[in-house]
Amino acid sequence: MSEISKEEWNKLFASHWNFAGARQDGHIAMFPEELPARLIKMFSFVGETVFDPFMGSGTTALAARNLNRNSIGYEINKDFRQYYEQKVISNSIFSHNTYNIREDADSYNINGLIDNLPYFFRDPLKMNNKVDVKTLQFGSKIDRSSGKREELYSVKHVLSPNLLELSSGLIVKLLGVEPNPAKAEQATIYLQNKTKGHKVYMRFDEVKYDSQNQLLCYLYLENRTFLNAHILKEKLAIADTSIPYKYRNKFINY
Ligand SMILES: C[S@@+](CC[C@H](N)C(=O)[O-])C[C@H]1O[C@@H](n2cnc3c(N)ncnc32)[C@H](O)[C@@H]1O
Repeated sequence: MSEISKEEWNKLFASHWNFAGARQDGHIAMFPEELPARLIKMFSFVGETVFDPFMGSGTTALAARNLNRNSIGYEINKDFRQYYEQKVISNSIFSHNTYNIREDADSYNINGLIDNLPYFFRDPLKMNNKVDVKTLQFGSKIDRSSGKREELYSVKHVLSPNLLELSSGLIVKLLGVEPNPAKAEQATIYLQNKTKGHKVYMRFDEVKYDSQNQLLCYLYLENRTFLNAHILKEKLAIADTSIPYKYRNKFINY
């Protein structure tokens, strides 16, 4: 009952997730149901109990119920009870679901209850930090003073026809661009000249890493010159046909 298909597993365990946010009612910073739903599918089985220590409107409880898990939530602000009641209880479709709201948290012996759990989940895998958050943030950061959406960098080194080191120390690979060994030197010089003295910004596709964990991006000059496209139009490199990406057909045509 807890089985996840291979396709869904790949989506869940991908390093970046894309989904819409939740509309905010009542100023409690609600997250969309999709967020706890994914984590619940990833780390629990049907019938188990999910705990949310900061329950707010109860989105986690809702996701847990909809995935046939039990849940427990703590919420310090009694005013939020109404949101939980509205979101989770009044919305209940199965008569076998039961809800129990208690306002006697102080009387619980939490440590004793934890000690009696059937098992503890300890993740044997170390987190693999693909990017240093100080060097890169996905998505656009809006600088309200300038109205610009992009984070601008300069290019420190052109390492190869598709590999550049940015001023932040981040090394990026031009998505869709494969070096043509016969033109590698010319292509590197072309990129050096194009980027010299200019700021660049990145855009990302669904595919964010290649098989060597190298960050893939579309790189633009501040004046919107699309470097991935330009280097291909100049026939200094060849289009990558090994993976799908948004501009694949366009790049192949170049
Ligand atoms: C960001 S909200 C969570 C919103 C929730 N994810 C949702 O979708 O509705 C964080 C909640 O934690 C609650 N909170 C903060 N400190 C707490 C504490 N010590 N114990 C229980 N709840 C707490 C806040 O009142 C707030 O409702």
